[in-house]
Amino acid sequence: MKNNLPNNNLEQLNKLSELIRERVGIVVDPNLSSLRIVFKEICDSFNYSSYDACLKALEKSNEMTPEFEHLVNALTVGESYFFRDQAQTGFLKDFFLPEIIEKKRKDQQKILRIWSAGCASGQEIYTIAILLNELLSDKYAWDVHLLGTDINPKMLANAIRGTYNQWSLHATKKSIIDRYFIKQNDHYLLLPVVKNMVKFFYHNLTQNNYPSILTQITNLDLIICRNVFIYFDKTLVNDVLGHFEKCLVPNGGLLLGSAEYIATLENNFVAEQVNSVTCYRRREITVNKETKEQKKRVSSAFSTLKSDQTIIKEVAALLTQKEWQATLDYLKEFGSQLSNKSLLLQFQAMALANLGKAAEAIEFCQRSIELSQLDPHAYLLKALILFDLNNDSEAEKALRQALFLDAQFVEAQYRLGLLLIRQGKIEKGLNNLRIALRNAEKRDANQRIHYMSKLTFSQFVNILHHEILIYEQLS
Ligand SMILES: C[S@@+](CC[C@H](N)C(=O)[O-])C[C@H]1O[C@@H](n2cnc3c(N)ncnc32)[C@H](O)[C@@H]1O
Repeated sequence: MKNNLPNNNLEQLNKLSELIRERVGIVVDPNLSSLRIVFKEICDSFNYSSYDACLKALEKSNEMTPEFEHLVNALTVGESYFFRDQAQTGFLKDFFLPEIIEKKRKDQQKILRIWSAGCASGQEIYTIAILLNELLSDKYAWDVHLLGTDINPKMLANAIRGTYNQWSLHATKKSIIDRYFIKQNDHYLLLPVVKNMVKFFYHNLTQNNYPSILTQITNLDLIICRNVFIYFDKTLVNDVLGHFEKCLVPNGGLLLGSAEYIATLENNFVAEQVNSVTCYRRREITVNKETKEQKKRVSSAFSTLKSDQTIIKEVAALLTQKEWQATLDYLKEFGSQLSNKSLLLQFQAMALANLGKAAEAIEFCQRSIELSQLDPHAYLLKALILFDLNNDSEAEKALRQALFLDAQFVEAQYRLGLLLIRQGKIEKGLNNLRIALRNAEKRDANQRIHYMSKLTFSQFVNILHHEILIYEQLS
């Protein structure tokens, strides 16, 4: 059918552009020639007899069909490079990072958490990893968590490979290239000292499943999200900013592309200007506002005696709203009434972990396990917190214990799969991811994977599918 497709198909292009906006939030002008080209490519490569037939198939499909993958891959190609925004890199190197490092050293909390949202092939987050490598003389005394996420599996696979062309390094000093890359033919391989500092995940910013300790997107000191909002409309940008705010610690920073501005008053951010760079800081004041609301909620809850079921429901609601301190306050006043003490400890562990108090959270988990040794969730929670402490070997033990108790436990299977992959055991890890996918597909799509999480099984299936796609390219 290749050459018989008509040129004037604006109606279908309108529908296609609407479909893309709904599914992945990307706003594409239906008149854009690249949309027309990629639509034709999909019709051709997948042998559709008409645009109508192709559109109908896309409408019926989900984000995981090869046709939709092709569409997303084609629309999100973002060729990036190391040290791309000199002003921002200077701000990070000379102001933001030294300041936060000094503060954390003083507080004896040597943990740093930075997320590149829409990381493409990883150049942006690896640039930060290089800066940290230069700045932290005692790097091994720190728990450094650097995350890169994107919706494009091809680019995520490139990021994980850490192999770049000459152009990717055109703005990088020779001394840095010599220190952190090895040249192989016409490519540059990033050295493990930097490569191993970053973890990459599939994550769609338009979904409402973050912050989350399952994906480690929580408690962040800095989010860098450059040139991603260009794809989104204003409503979506505000939704994403709402999530970002909950992901950041108070006073944590948000960096956008140099031409991207947000209305700080609509969102709980304060714009800080250093030279030509704007850094949006999460307002400390939100904490006060929340504390007032939380206190009101806690005291009204306290005035009544409640059943186990009600307490669990109310705590789950606080946890899914990411109100960590409110959860602890509520449980302090109210938790003694909950008969399931093991669950009480898990609630507390979850809130503490999200407040960055991982060591304390582990103790609560351990006590929960002692009370109910057959509860796989307590082991999963322990594993997730251990990941946070960069203690992968103990985390692996806890995951295996969770799976010993429940072999169908999808979250534990997923995290174990990723862990094995990161240890270089790609086939074994892929196997765990595939088992997790099969088990997740059997579950009710709209059900949440756990009552403490907003993630539904259908969203989880989508994540698993994409993670598998990423690592199949690397195996
Ligand atoms: C132009 S690139 C920017 C790359 C990098 N941040 C930089 O500035 O160098 C935009 C990236 O946003 C990603 N993206 C688009 N929509 C997204 C979504 N809904 N969730 C997550 N990432 C998305 C694209 O896949 C692409 O990799």
